[in-house]
Amino acid sequence: MNPKIEELNNKLNQAYLGGGQDRIERQHQNKKLTARERIDYLLDEGSFEEIGALVTHRTKDFGMENQMYYGDGVVTGYGTIDGRLVYVFAQDFTVFGGSLSETHAEKICKIMDLTVNVGAPFIGLNDSGGARIQEGVRSLGGYADIFYRNVQASGVIPQISAIMGPCAGGAVYSPAMTDFTLMVENTSYMFVTGPSVVKTVTNESVSSEELGGALVHASKSGVAHVTSVNDVACLESIKKLISYLPQSNKETAPKYSYDLEDELRTQLNGLVPDNPNKPYDMHQVIDGIIDADSFYEIHKDYAENIIVGFARLGGQSIGIVANQPMFLAGVLDVNSSKKAARFVRFCDAFNTPLLVLEDVPGFLPGTDQEWNAIITNGAKLLYAFSEATVPRVTVITRKAYGGAYDVMNSKHIGADMNFAWPTAEIAVMGAKGAAEIIFKKEIQASDDQEATLKAKETEYADLFANPYSAAQRGFIDEVILPDQTRRKLIKAFTMLQDKQVNHPIRKHGNIPL
Ligand code: HXC
Repeated sequence: MNPKIEELNNKLNQAYLGGGQDRIERQHQNKKLTARERIDYLLDEGSFEEIGALVTHRTKDFGMENQMYYGDGVVTGYGTIDGRLVYVFAQDFTVFGGSLSETHAEKICKIMDLTVNVGAPFIGLNDSGGARIQEGVRSLGGYADIFYRNVQASGVIPQISAIMGPCAGGAVYSPAMTDFTLMVENTSYMFVTGPSVVKTVTNESVSSEELGGALVHASKSGVAHVTSVNDVACLESIKKLISYLPQSNKETAPKYSYDLEDELRTQLNGLVPDNPNKPYDMHQVIDGIIDADSFYEIHKDYAENIIVGFARLGGQSIGIVANQPMFLAGVLDVNSSKKAARFVRFCDAFNTPLLVLEDVPGFLPGTDQEWNAIITNGAKLLYAFSEATVPRVTVITRKAYGGAYDVMNSKHIGADMNFAWPTAEIAVMGAKGAAEIIFKKEIQASDDQEATLKAKETEYADLFANPYSAAQRGFIDEVILPDQTRRKLIKAFTMLQDKQVNHPIRKHGNIPL
């Protein structure tokens, strides 16, 4: 063989071996795939093209010149998922624990620049001990170069982060600025300061898993949008998520073929209980409306009083925001407002129509909520809907009370089509609370206060605990039977597909952060 070709083959073989066979085996023992195995599983077979396989670090301190590994702890390049272009990096824990050196950062930045210029999703598979300690500030600068690009790419191309091992210190801020963070249960964790620093500073004893494991971030902090039981499930989840997204903000998501039939869904008719205080599962409403098995839920275990996620309707990708009466009666609170606002802004940035399913008794009262700024946080959702220019359709299934009526994609803040089921109640508050306030004196003066309250409650309910008062004013476009919902929505979103709204020119708005 030509010695030059042999030399190249040797180098590439070394690059493929990463930090060595023993470290690869350790990765497997820890129930983790290697960086290359992850990329192979994620992308269409044979589609991966590597960029920078022969890059090495430039550090000479601490004897580092004797420890050179081709690729320098990260595999970067491009390929396809279901035939659609994506850019990907996968940190290689077998090389210096996947730690980020100056050159490792440069490789990531190179594909980030390509991803924005070309317009295709960017996927980061994170598995890293953080800043390469031997490189000091050069490594910190490398992180900042990535953070800067995350922000420049925000709203231009979808950015997805999978955490498949450690992600600590300032390293967490790159995933935090991407659109979706997926975590693998038991093998990944994220925190700004680890357990030992926590112990020193606050005297708390906590494990890595308790401090920043997947389940904690999926349920308590909301940092993780999706969790998976292992690497393979996580990579499958990324593929599924990508299927709902456009390549960039200049496109819409791919439409799947769907043959329309009568689209009546009779199972929706009996879903809302007669008793307005009885809960029902909004997931059943979602399932009754969307294409079969097409729901991809985001933040499933966080702020469960609101449901957000992607689905398909007649083959078209949509985003769904739905109050969930099964949790806290579906109220809006700090966490649910933040959760929904971020999702609405993603959908708006990436041309994904929004469907809102509304059953909301209002905002959650109490000192906890007020002191945690329900005012500012509730305003996030109001702001996010108000600025969204994608097609926006609302269906009120039951309660639409108080300020929450305005916030949940009402006509007044720019929704395009607002439907209500006959069970809808659109009012300032529930009939009992309303009667107690406005007929207080009358009730106190009456001989049978309970009966008077009941009568006044009925009077208020007759007037407002229905969709007709709002429909008379045009705040509701149509009162529809539940079984017609899917049919009406497919028509409405088709009608709205060429919607164009131009806001006045400004640098950017000032969302209440
Ligand atoms: C250089 C590192 C490294 C790092 C790990 N390694 N982290 N090398 N810089 N940051 C190396 C180890 O020396 C070891 O090399 C190999 O990777 C595997 O590490 P182990 O410790 O053997 O693995 P494990 O027991 O699984 O523990 C993994 C770990 C631990 C929890 C990640 O390595 C660790 O705590 N590392 C340091 C984490 C850290 O403090 N990073 C800096 C965070 S601050 P050998 O040759 O022995 O196999 C930060 C700031 C970013 O990142 C700021 C951005 C703004």
